[in-house]
Amino acid sequence: MTRERIISNQSQGEQENQLNYALRPQRFEQYVGQEQLIRKLRIAVTAAKSRGEPVEHVLLHGPPGLGKTTLAHVLANEMGAAVQVANGPAISKGADLVGILTKLQKGDVLFIDEIHRLPVIVEEHLYSAMEDFKVDIPLDAGMHARTVTIPLEPFTLVGATTRLGLLTGPMRGRFGIPLNLQFYPPEALHTILQQNARLLELVAEDQALWELARRSRGTPRVANRLLRRARDYAAVEASGKLTLAVTQKALELEGIDDRGLDEQDRQFLKIIVEVYEGGPVGIEAVAATLGEERDTLEDVVEPFLLQQALVTRTRQGRRATRLAYDHLGLKWNPPQQPDQDEQNLFDS
Ligand SMILES: Nc1ncnc2c1ncn2[C@@H]1O[C@H](COP(=O)(O)OP(=O)(O)O)[C@@H](O)[C@H]1O
Ligand SMILES: [Mg+2]
Repeated sequence: MTRERIISNQSQGEQENQLNYALRPQRFEQYVGQEQLIRKLRIAVTAAKSRGEPVEHVLLHGPPGLGKTTLAHVLANEMGAAVQVANGPAISKGADLVGILTKLQKGDVLFIDEIHRLPVIVEEHLYSAMEDFKVDIPLDAGMHARTVTIPLEPFTLVGATTRLGLLTGPMRGRFGIPLNLQFYPPEALHTILQQNARLLELVAEDQALWELARRSRGTPRVANRLLRRARDYAAVEASGKLTLAVTQKALELEGIDDRGLDEQDRQFLKIIVEVYEGGPVGIEAVAATLGEERDTLEDVVEPFLLQQALVTRTRQGRRATRLAYDHLGLKWNPPQQPDQDEQNLFDS
């Protein structure tokens, strides 16, 4: 069994989902950050409403915990539409999808999470549904094969994925509004934490909230989780008030360092640095050495390390940067065999 990872961007259980639900923004104006993306969506919503049509299909992509599910619900609320929620890998047969599609009412939002994990045969059914609001259902196989075409109510598909690269070209091409969610700057996370501290009726020093904002991996889900851990710590080990000192101790207990990295992040960097001499090393090798799934590393661990410029991704594999050495408190030893991107070593 692997230890539960506080920084894990995946949802953990019902209780947390309920807590998160209470903290979930319902409207555009409550959705903090991602300004560019929200502006595009507002325009799309306003235009669609004025025409009395559903919004074009929306594809949300970005690392876990950045607010894709939340945004799908916000979009539906703004359209005054109902949401039907489905999960890519759970729709295993064409018939499952047809069942979902034929139940949709005019203007509904169909949210398909992990859409990159939709089986290929199911995906093909989705094409005509997205394009022409109809599905073809095969009635017989072989010689007497026939299909009937069932018309659907116009709807908006909102697809979410952590891995844009795993989505097929035809699938991607059918989304009129592709949107990329970015990691949040500390300012945005601070606003989210302020709102949530208020909702949780937690007395918190502003400095404490800034500390959490700075150390939450640019991710609202992580910020919310760390806020709850710090709240527990404050309740049990202190007077209940969230001070900077209490917050720092709570974060230390959780193994969150100054940059917001946790043990798994540091292990990832250490393996590249210590086992593979700084890289380049393939992700498979890192995964095997860590005893972790490659997908988890690519979805959850790596994006933030890349964004922080602690690792780079080259054609030959992953490399630890000088910043990673500094962060781990290790001496920077540039590679013996410089390649093209390190020619500047010779220039000086
Ligand atoms: N822009 C935002 N403003 C406020 N809270 C947010 C925002 N984005 C996400 N959250 C919070 O973070 C948590 C995770 O968001 P979620 O939509 O489940 O992420 P994803 O679907 O991308 O994994 C939710 O509980 C939500 O309350
Ligand atoms: Mg989600």
